[in-house]
Amino acid sequence: MSQTGCPFFDAVFCRYIKNPLKQYMRGQKRLYFPAVSAQTMAMTNTDQSSAGKPSIFVTRRWPADAEAALSQYFIPTFNLDDRPLSAAEMAAGFASHDAIAPTVSDKIGADIITAGANGKGRLIANFGVGVNHIDLGAAAAAGIAVSNTPGVLTDATADLALTLILMLSRRAGEGERELRAGEWQGWRPTHLMGRALQGKTLGIIGMGRIGKAVAQRAALGFGMKIVFYNRSRIDDISAYPARQLDDVESVCQIADCLSLHCAASADTFHILNAERLAMMKPDAYVINTARGDVIDETALAAALSAKQLGGAGLDVFQGEPVIDPALLAAPNTVLLPHLGSATIETRTAMGLKVVENACAFFAGQPLIDPV
Ligand code: DGY
Repeated sequence: MSQTGCPFFDAVFCRYIKNPLKQYMRGQKRLYFPAVSAQTMAMTNTDQSSAGKPSIFVTRRWPADAEAALSQYFIPTFNLDDRPLSAAEMAAGFASHDAIAPTVSDKIGADIITAGANGKGRLIANFGVGVNHIDLGAAAAAGIAVSNTPGVLTDATADLALTLILMLSRRAGEGERELRAGEWQGWRPTHLMGRALQGKTLGIIGMGRIGKAVAQRAALGFGMKIVFYNRSRIDDISAYPARQLDDVESVCQIADCLSLHCAASADTFHILNAERLAMMKPDAYVINTARGDVIDETALAAALSAKQLGGAGLDVFQGEPVIDPALLAAPNTVLLPHLGSATIETRTAMGLKVVENACAFFAGQPLIDPV
């Protein structure tokens, strides 16, 4: 019996949606999609086998398996040079395709959305979980659906938060720079002493999937105590001790290390501001793998320079890829170029989530991950 009323998308549902992402996430080495060279499938949109397939404008390159999966079910246009596209290029791309698949580094404002809606565009299938770069109000007003890719990047992002915590607490960045500069003068008892994590308190702001994954690693892997702030009550943590506190201030005051895991929104803009930074312990660390907007970077740089804070490990920045020079100059920082989800497994799974959502949408089904 037909599931979607359309033989093409019935095949999609049977072959793809029910199987490959699940298989991939279970750790299979390869998808069953044949490897298709992006070079052969991109930019032409005239593939003879494309009849009936919706078209999708992909703003940046994806891992090969994800591009191959997409081209099984859609007529993709890939940005072969993988360069940042202008708003005008994205507007033209969305207007001439049924969907656009942007990512965190593309600002999808009302201009692009309106151009899409006035043309062929019907869906924004975001490659990424955060959607603060998309004007959701404009999308809703224009009747454009939006999906994202939650779940599949939880572990990778949590691992990176722990990487930053460890790099700061064990002074790994400093040590590597010293060694490479030829300045290491050999082992000595007082050389680059860091601080242990065992028994220290990790404060988490935003106890969603990623916050919980970080807490679990820190508590069970490194013996840290967990306190957290979350807007709503969290009752499902039992594997490790974790205390929910009533406000952000209480977490700031008690934390030896504060890790931000809230989504960027008007409510969380500069949630870590000068006032709250001033409440933190003078040797505490700040970790951010969420979005640059959640920290007042100017205040953070000032607190670090004034030694009112122990250090900061940042993977995301307000104006990325441009970094505030004050942050670059501040002491005790580990600064990474937005690597949270950057594993081949996770980036492939993110692409497959886009495919899944777009397949569902064009089959007339509800989006799997509606925003
Ligand atoms: C996301 O998906 O929002 C991440 O920031 C990308 O790593």
